[in-house]
Amino acid sequence: MGWDGTGGLERLVIGNWKMNLGLTASDQWCDEFLASPHLPVPGLQLGIAPPVTVLARLAERLKNWVAVGAQDCSGMAAAGAYTGEVSAELLADAGAVFALIGHSERRRGLAGESNGLVASKYAAAVRAGLLPVLCLGESLAERDSGETSAVLARQIRDSIALAPPNQPLVLAYEPVWAIGARRAATPEQIVAAHLAIREQLPGHPVRILYGGSVTANNAKSLVQIAGVDGLLVGGASLKASDFVMIAREVAGSVGRQPLRNC
Ligand code: PGA
Repeated sequence: MGWDGTGGLERLVIGNWKMNLGLTASDQWCDEFLASPHLPVPGLQLGIAPPVTVLARLAERLKNWVAVGAQDCSGMAAAGAYTGEVSAELLADAGAVFALIGHSERRRGLAGESNGLVASKYAAAVRAGLLPVLCLGESLAERDSGETSAVLARQIRDSIALAPPNQPLVLAYEPVWAIGARRAATPEQIVAAHLAIREQLPGHPVRILYGGSVTANNAKSLVQIAGVDGLLVGGASLKASDFVMIAREVAGSVGRQPLRNC
């Protein structure tokens, strides 16, 4: 299994389990995944971000096939008196290879993460050797008032403020209104947003995933959109057979040259 942040040609498909699947259910997921006749899926990097309670177990069980990552990490120190926090180093020690950073459910939900906090988490992930997957996206109100590009630009500028320059980046464009909505963004909206993101990062090696209501039915058409280098999949990744199906749809469209800045 190859997994790197160097912007290699391989596409990424990452499943985000959110607050779902405990020990028994995640074991069943692994059993079903590992029994799939469709593995390996060539030309792809696969990742799963499970709840932290099963991360180490999944990293062990899936190590030949899927990179396991965290859904978040602390922006604090590597260790210390920070009750309830889980540092990027502890996550790496448990087998995490990447971390989602700044998911909108954390930015805009109860956690209320500011771009500043997201920036410290991004830097912590880099410090621990995790590949940060920075999530970006506008709300419906921001889109309706024509602020999408400005919001994305601000999120990029502020969130990776502490990142080392010229480091290869993996970003996930997830319009907030398309998450869990059974309605993905349109190709025109995705092209425009991915272009707006790339414009903020001239000369940077960058891969941009699309996320928001990805399913086995729309994965192929989404990944064929110019500038889409992979997918971030929430609800549809909770079933191993759907996740494999999505991976196969993406692998099946590998002929197209991804758009890149480098
Ligand atoms: P969804 O979630 O695929 O269920 O819309 C995507 C995400 O939040 O990463």
